[in-house]
Order: sequence, then structure tokens, then C-alpha cells
Amino acid sequence: MATLHLAINGHSYSVDADPQTSLLTILREHLDLTGSKYGCGEGMCGACTVLIDGKAQRSCITRVGTVTQKQITTIEGLARGARSDKGELHPVQQAFLDAGALQCGYCTSGMIMSAVALLKKNAAPSASEIIDSMDGNVCRCGTYARIVSAIQKAAGVMRASSANKEGCLAPIAAQRTRCGAVAPSDPSTRSASALARDDIAFKTKDDMVFKAEEVAR
Ligand code: FES
Ligand code: FES
Repeated sequence: MATLHLAINGHSYSVDADPQTSLLTILREHLDLTGSKYGCGEGMCGACTVLIDGKAQRSCITRVGTVTQKQITTIEGLARGARSDKGELHPVQQAFLDAGALQCGYCTSGMIMSAVALLKKNAAPSASEIIDSMDGNVCRCGTYARIVSAIQKAAGVMRASSANKEGCLAPIAAQRTRCGAVAPSDPSTRSASALARDDIAFKTKDDMVFKAEEVAR
């Protein structure tokens, strides 16, 4: 047992625990940060994904003693002003809601954290790049098509926001040349029944790439 000092979502915490304890256990059972979920407990499903120094990592297989000097972000820390009455969702969270990219929601926080990490590295991922990057995140409800759509939509919103902050106020479609941003298609315009058909049609990874690209068109 040791007293461990952790930096989580911009706050400092002190926890008395065995340094070999998983970060997920500390988050959920010591700090009541239960947004990160316990799925497989073996690093295979992604439900427990958090950001450690900006990189997506599985908290179920991360020993808490290895992250005491690092910045940890959980799903609870994504929304701006989450602890105030005027909280604003992160664009990826909002896009998941808008696209209906969840059913039971058990995978969702891990999906969102992995997506946030992806968009930090790649501001305009293609459908196949999203699928490759999110490959280790499992959704037992099979909402993959909507998840890909949500990530592409969030990417567009984040690019537009970033471009606007840099003084580039052209419409998104015109920003390809002015700001280097790629105009996204808007998968949110697909009907719910069309998205449902895409979900049902998913069988293999290749099929998933094909369908996701179809959704993105
Ligand atoms: S619970 Fe951590 S990867 Fe499954
Ligand atoms: S929404 Fe149920 S596991 Fe993904």
C-alpha cells in the first residue's frame, strides 16, 4: 500500500492503494469515476479506454503506479465545464448523440476516448482509417456504421472550429484550399432506417469498410 498522487481531468487526487492495482479499479472504486467501463478486463474490448498523456490506453491493464506522473483524462473530463451548470459536450460526444451511435452504451465511453485520441493524430480520417484505428474497440450492439459516421461528423466540426479560431471563416467546403481542411460529407443526413440497414448488414471487417464508406458518401 502506498499513497499515490494522480492528475485526472485537471484535478489532483491522492489515493491509498497498491501500485499494482489497475487504473480502472482506482477510477471506478476509489474515485467514483464510473464512466470508464469494465468489459473484458484483459485489454481486448476497449470499454475501459482513457487518455494517458493524450494517448488512448486500456485502464484495465494499466497499473496505477505507472501513471502517477502523467495526465489522465477520462470520459468525465471531456465536456468543457462539465462540473458547472453550463457544461458543453465535447464534439465527439455530441456527434455520438446526434448520430445515435449507441444502443446499450456500454462501449460508448471507450469508443469516444479512442476517437478523441484518433482525431488528435488525424484531423480528417477516412472511414477505413477510422475502422483501422478503432479496431480494438468492440461494440456488442453492432453500432459500428453510426460510430464511423459520428467520428467523421465530429472531425468536420473540430476542423471547422479550429479553422475559425485561426481566422479562416470560409465555409467548410471552401476550406480545402484555404486552410488545408478536407470537407466532410454529412452522414447525419442519412435516415434512421438506412443506418439501421447498415448496422444489420455488417458481417466482416471488409464489409464494414465498404458499408462505412457508403455511409460517408
Ligand atoms: S475492460 Fe479493458 S479492454 Fe476490456
Ligand atoms: S452500444 Fe452496446 S456495446 Fe456498443
